[in-house]
Amino acid sequence: MKLFIDSADPKEIASLAATGLVDGVTTNPSLAAKSGQSLFDALAAICDVVKGSVSAEVTATETERMIAEGKKLARIADNITIKVPLTWDGLRACKSLSGDGHKVNVTLCFSPNQALLAAKAGATFISPFIGRLDDAGHDGMALIREIRHIYDNYGYKTEILAASIRHATHVRDAALVGADVATMPPAIFRALVSHPLTDKGLAAFLEDWKKTGQTIL
Ligand code: E4P
Repeated sequence: MKLFIDSADPKEIASLAATGLVDGVTTNPSLAAKSGQSLFDALAAICDVVKGSVSAEVTATETERMIAEGKKLARIADNITIKVPLTWDGLRACKSLSGDGHKVNVTLCFSPNQALLAAKAGATFISPFIGRLDDAGHDGMALIREIRHIYDNYGYKTEILAASIRHATHVRDAALVGADVATMPPAIFRALVSHPLTDKGLAAFLEDWKKTGQTIL
């Protein structure tokens, strides 16, 4: 499973990329606004440190303008994935951009039928928003499961990118149900490694080792 960071903060992303375990990045207009930087500068800095897919979202709502914005964003670096919303205009833009060889992430997916349309439009990634569905009293993980089933039924190669992740359990469950990618805020990425029994066990090992008076190096 690929692990992406859901952030537009180049410094934060660089610190996590140093683990060697970051496969890509997703940004959106809200994250870009939060970063307080120029979108183009932030994306260029992110693409310098992460060589996998970096999603950059268009803000136009009409197909031709989405395509123009997408092409401009794609000029930032070879690893930019153009992100478009799940509307008819977005799907038309997806079909055109993917036909031209661009990678496209179709975002704001909340239903299996929307995911089916995105796959038919040639999306590289579909982004179902698990957390926002859970927040609204629905079952976000059920959506991932259903999309997996549909894509496998027909052999669609569109990768399922579990988005709007709220906690580490979402990452585990997305992996269990076969999402191809999970994108998560930096704090959740950091939390993936934590387990109190790991800390306790390591402390005991080191304490016992100290008693031997030996060193390995
Ligand atoms: C990523 O591609 C999405 O834009 C992001 O995960 C949305 O997360 P949110 O629901 O926490 O805003």
